[in-house]
Amino acid sequence: MKHTINIYLSIQEEKNLIKRVKKAVIPAAGLGTRFLPATKAMPKEMLPIVDKPTIQYIIEEAVESGIEDILIVTGKGKRAIEDHFDSVPELEQTLIEKGKSEFLKLVEETTNINIHFIRQSKPMGLGHAVLQAKAFVGDEPFVVMLGDDIVQAEIPCTKQLIEQYNKTEGSIIGVQSVSNDVTHRYGIVDLHASIDDGLHQVDSFVEKPEPGTEPSNLAILGRYLFTPQIFDFLETQVPGTGGEIQLTDAITRLNEIQRVFAYEFIGKRYDVGEKLGFIQTTLEFALRREDLKEDVWKLVKEIYEENLMMSNNQ
Ligand code: G1P
Repeated sequence: MKHTINIYLSIQEEKNLIKRVKKAVIPAAGLGTRFLPATKAMPKEMLPIVDKPTIQYIIEEAVESGIEDILIVTGKGKRAIEDHFDSVPELEQTLIEKGKSEFLKLVEETTNINIHFIRQSKPMGLGHAVLQAKAFVGDEPFVVMLGDDIVQAEIPCTKQLIEQYNKTEGSIIGVQSVSNDVTHRYGIVDLHASIDDGLHQVDSFVEKPEPGTEPSNLAILGRYLFTPQIFDFLETQVPGTGGEIQLTDAITRLNEIQRVFAYEFIGKRYDVGEKLGFIQTTLEFALRREDLKEDVWKLVKEIYEENLMMSNNQ
């Protein structure tokens, strides 16, 4: 009995040694060329889905997942992101004077979060962007959240990854299956074995495989949880696909010394990094809003019927 209690206690002690995931890194230094000319003078992360910048959806997911500190890795021309999460006393004062408390709440919501910024001086790839977070992260597990991927889920996607980390204590990469014709756009997982519902051991990760050479259909979709050891590999990572320092390549090397898991998160993922995905997200999010859905649905039907009539008349 005593022996059992001792084992139990030591497990508990060990459990206490598992560091809580409190930090998130959001790379936001990309040029946003797919959205030119809109992104000529405005960061792509500030493009709104309905009435909220895309990056705010990511930050809300982080906060709902229990993240306490967020580092945004920015680059040139990204000042608007810093301004967005700063307070604006004149605007707040005007809203108070005019009694517009609903809007005041929306403005205040964006400033009550611990957000830090660092600049990536040269665009050398996603791996290089994440490396800029080394001092911020220190010796703790942390998450990386990509702004091009918004996930709608009952349990926030990042929280799902944290739950898997608490079980495995290893790095967890969020994945979902995609169709064959788009695997070349993603980091793809070469599976080793499945160990639990949606949780897999991995042999390697391949960044943007040539069409037809993909080892599976499971794609990395913008959510990662890492142990701090990832930095050892990012620091020595040589450029890969596209001549850039790829995060995916560093993950494969980390996996060789410390188990990295792929986890199929539950939820619908939206790609706001390309035009069609952006339009789809805008439409679906608007259709989910109580204040908009009726009118937007009416509009969609009108546009559909108008187009149908036009094509019938041709
Ligand atoms: C990045 C990653 C890729 C991942 C993708 C998810 O690619 O390098 O592994 O699958 O994000 O959106 P990017 O879209 O920046 O080319």
